[in-house]
Amino acid sequence: MTPEMRTPRLVCLTGFMGSGKSTIARLLAGALGWQNVDLDKRITDAAGLAIPEIFARWGEPEFRRLESEQLARVVAEFQETQKSRVVSLGGGTIGQPQNLALLRENGAVLIWLRCPVEELLRRCAQITDRPLFRDEASFRRLYEERLPTYQLADYCVDNDIDPARVVERILALGIFPRVTV
Ligand code: S3P
Repeated sequence: MTPEMRTPRLVCLTGFMGSGKSTIARLLAGALGWQNVDLDKRITDAAGLAIPEIFARWGEPEFRRLESEQLARVVAEFQETQKSRVVSLGGGTIGQPQNLALLRENGAVLIWLRCPVEELLRRCAQITDRPLFRDEASFRRLYEERLPTYQLADYCVDNDIDPARVVERILALGIFPRVTV
């Protein structure tokens, strides 16, 4: 293991809604024996409300404020404990420049889980907890708008196969200690 690989790491998964961030983060953290943090869950736990309710009652600006606040806590916890962790971000988290700056300043490695928009649509159409999924046209528009932001990630991994194989692809990036899945 190189010294680089012994350094505690903060690995964040980004990507559009429906790209599988939470599932892959959980599996990846399990494979590595690292902690797993789901940013959306941190937000809902802190607010005591589900995401659609936060949007409905307080609006998107307040959701974004809570998102930044919780992200700052996750980063501070990482710095305090120096324990490696995999964080699944929300689809819009790195769209706020201060969030991306915070992650960069703290040495986070960003992995974009890329997924074709048709597949994202198929997945999100069946789930009702995404306030930003209003209709197909706005979904496609938001996806196009967000692409340049996801392209800022350090790595891009296609999430077009089963989750275990996506985790293998991430492990094969060569940025983790050697593990067997
Ligand atoms: C959002 C994505 C959601 C959640 C919120 C806003 C977005 O997370 O944070 O509904 O701006 O794309 P997922 O990407 O996990 O669905």
